[in-house]
Amino acid sequence: MSNIFSSELISEIEVLIDSRERDLILQDISNILKDRVSHYDWVGFYTLTQDGSALELGPYAGKHTDHTTIPVGKGVCGQVAERNEEMVVQDVSTEANYLSCSIDVQSEIVVPIEKDGAFISQIDIDSRSLAPFTEADSIFLAKIAKLLEPLF
Ligand code: SME
Repeated sequence: MSNIFSSELISEIEVLIDSRERDLILQDISNILKDRVSHYDWVGFYTLTQDGSALELGPYAGKHTDHTTIPVGKGVCGQVAERNEEMVVQDVSTEANYLSCSIDVQSEIVVPIEKDGAFISQIDIDSRSLAPFTEADSIFLAKIAKLLEPLF
């Protein structure tokens, strides 16, 4: 596995999951992932609304996005919410159900976070690189998603 996804980085993230308010923790994690993983150019969290119909943008690191509310089923984020499964889009120009945040973005990975086995939130990562994601990203982000479950 590539060095950037070392257990040290996971340990650093584990330390951030403390007794502070959830959004402060998610903000720190967004910042650390964007700063430390070179192919992560936008990192943020979308969480299901109370009525389960949409996703709301929470803490993020990177450029402003107009997509602050996304209906379930719309875009890559909405598809992940609907299916409760990770989605990797190595080239966003090939994805018909995609919501563009910035013309710089070439690829995206979205990993679900569960509460009691059901979808509740997600880590969304945009990259300006084409096809940068490997199995190592999936394993790394799934570990983080699991660590975050108790916050929801
Ligand atoms: N590209 C996402 C929208 C969110 S932005 O990436 C921040 C999508 O297709 O759902």
